[in-house]
Amino acid sequence: MPYGKTQQPKGRLDGKVAFVTGAAGGLGRSHVRRMAEEGADLVIVDICQSVGSVPYPMSTPDDLREAVAEVHAYGRHVVARQADVRDREALQEAYDAGLAAFGHVDVVVANAGIAPLLVEDRIEAWQDAIDVNLTGTFHTIEVAVRSMVAAGRGGSIVIVNSTAGLVGLGGASNGGLAYSASKHGAVGLMRSYANNLAPHSIRVNSVHPTGVATRMVVDPAMVAFVASDPKLARQAPNALPVRMIEAVDVSNAVLWLASDEARYITGVTLPVDAGFINRR
Ligand SMILES: NC(=O)c1ccc[n+]([C@@H]2O[C@H](COP(=O)([O-])OP(=O)(O)OC[C@H]3O[C@@H](n4cnc5c(N)ncnc54)[C@H](O)[C@@H]3O)[C@@H](O)[C@H]2O)c1
Repeated sequence: MPYGKTQQPKGRLDGKVAFVTGAAGGLGRSHVRRMAEEGADLVIVDICQSVGSVPYPMSTPDDLREAVAEVHAYGRHVVARQADVRDREALQEAYDAGLAAFGHVDVVVANAGIAPLLVEDRIEAWQDAIDVNLTGTFHTIEVAVRSMVAAGRGGSIVIVNSTAGLVGLGGASNGGLAYSASKHGAVGLMRSYANNLAPHSIRVNSVHPTGVATRMVVDPAMVAFVASDPKLARQAPNALPVRMIEAVDVSNAVLWLASDEARYITGVTLPVDAGFINRR
């Protein structure tokens, strides 16, 4: 039965605008979908081209167009830009375009990330992972935070981290060490921003997923990397009987932290990991 005007279901993000990085594919696309479904308008960015040492493909401009179409299908508005989180100026331009269109941004999801894990190890993998996962997260928050404070509306910043941000995972390669180090570094950023921004009622938290079947994990290059290191291949499985969780499981946690349901939660590292960390 169609809803009448007074019977519209209330979205958990009604009236909010969310800025999401790495939004064209993988987990980012799922966050965008879930937040649009709950009533948010979106400002989305993605690099849409390959990243240095990363052996699996990034999203494409077509993927970004698809993300836009998905938001429209939920009847929400979206501003989309191709931008690299390493490029603070380009990211600021993308954010400002969204701010100009919507007048405010309430939610930031620092999701873009890479795992440059290579069978043929390369020194560049270290810098690439640090630049995207750590510096890119810093840029994502920095381009948004001044306007959020000035608006005086409070807000929620969610960093998409990893179990590798809480325990030493990823093996001994340059990329594996950088992945874990960059994700641990992002926890430090989260905790500092949570303290700095609390007086403005802006909450800052991170989610720490176990394996999700995105390109980062299922691409043949990544499967070959895991197979090449017996220690990684033997890594303890999740505690709950599930090999990999689904993107929407992570998006539901992001959505909750973004919503007013989590209004007094800040400075938290929330595992979405089927018990992986507790089991170690
Ligand atoms: N898939 C997993 O198992 C898993 C587990 C734990 C944490 N994570 C984290 O989740 C986040 C999303 O990963 P995913 O699994 O969706 O990976 P993915 O490779 O499927 O998607 C990443 C998206 O980010 C974009 N991107 C990459 N570098 C970028 C940059 N410099 N600037 C802008 N956009 C960029 C890509 O084009 C792509 O659309 C990452 O931070 C990752 O570390 C993933």
